[in-house]
Amino acid sequence: MKDHYGRTIDYMRISITDRCNLQCRYCMPHKIPHLPKEHLLTYEEIQFICQIAADIGITKLKITGGEPLVRSGCPQLIGKLKTIPEITQVTMTTNGINLEQHLHELKENGLDAVNISLDTLNPQVYQQITGKDQLPKVQNAIIQSIKAGLPVKLNTVLQTGINENEWPQLIKLTQQYPIDIRFIEMMPIGYGKQYSPVSNTQLLQQIQAMYPELQKEQSIHGNGPAVYYKIPEAKGSIGFISAIHGKFCQTCNRLRLSAHGSLKPCLCYEDQVDLIEPLRTCKGKQREYQIKEKILQAINQKPKEHHFTQSAQITETKPMVQIGG
Ligand code: 5AD
Ligand code: SF4
Repeated sequence: MKDHYGRTIDYMRISITDRCNLQCRYCMPHKIPHLPKEHLLTYEEIQFICQIAADIGITKLKITGGEPLVRSGCPQLIGKLKTIPEITQVTMTTNGINLEQHLHELKENGLDAVNISLDTLNPQVYQQITGKDQLPKVQNAIIQSIKAGLPVKLNTVLQTGINENEWPQLIKLTQQYPIDIRFIEMMPIGYGKQYSPVSNTQLLQQIQAMYPELQKEQSIHGNGPAVYYKIPEAKGSIGFISAIHGKFCQTCNRLRLSAHGSLKPCLCYEDQVDLIEPLRTCKGKQREYQIKEKILQAINQKPKEHHFTQSAQITETKPMVQIGG
């Protein structure tokens, strides 16, 4: 399905919970009230929406949160979504804390790949960023996922004065392991507004100065907007997701489904299309028709671009934990 600007929309991110077992300073620095359980989409409702989204042209799904692995039954949901014929790929973004304990089930249910958030290799800095002393657990989950044959990408957000100088150690992981690491520029959403982004343009220059032989990669690595480079002979690649210094709205291919059942056309704006009402009040063919219309409406409402550099134009006020990144 193409949107108003000719972009093919074939990717949906699904937040299955607004809860998280960490408290990252740029995402959910303190406890915030959670959605009452009855406001959460049930797994049956998520499957229903995904089936209709697949009929319209969505082929790739990403399970997100909050932290998706704090909601029980997440691996089984993935198994159900994998049975939708048009869906070619179901992946997940996780902080890695509960990953090892669910790895087997996730593999069994057909998870295609995993993105693990890792901002630092220093236990103290990890605690400073996430509020928890759990770095070894995440590092172990990364190793076990690789061993289990799951494609792994790391998501790293650099922050001035906190972890900005850790990139040399972090990119070395691509030489040691078959994993991609992606540097995500801090976006001015939620608590991220309080920090100024480390520029990926400058970061790339620093990496090129250290590795003059760095090669740009042409192959596509995923569903997202990352641009990839590789240190020659490395097992993995280095990606840059540069929402601020390398706007990629022209190729935006996604919708976001929130845990409370609204579709969000763009991260920057509060606009959303509510699905919960038709989902819970309509029956039979009418329910299918209404949900399809709402998904089409969300695709048609996708704006041309974000305005992250003009703060007055950012209308989204929710913290990232409620959006799912
Ligand atoms: N800007 C950029 N990335 C963010 N994340 C959370 N908040 C922000 C933000 N404001 C990242 C997390 C996680 C992914 C799901 O989104 O670090 O890796
Ligand atoms: Fe949790 Fe991820 Fe937000 Fe950190 S960034 S608080 S791990 S949802």
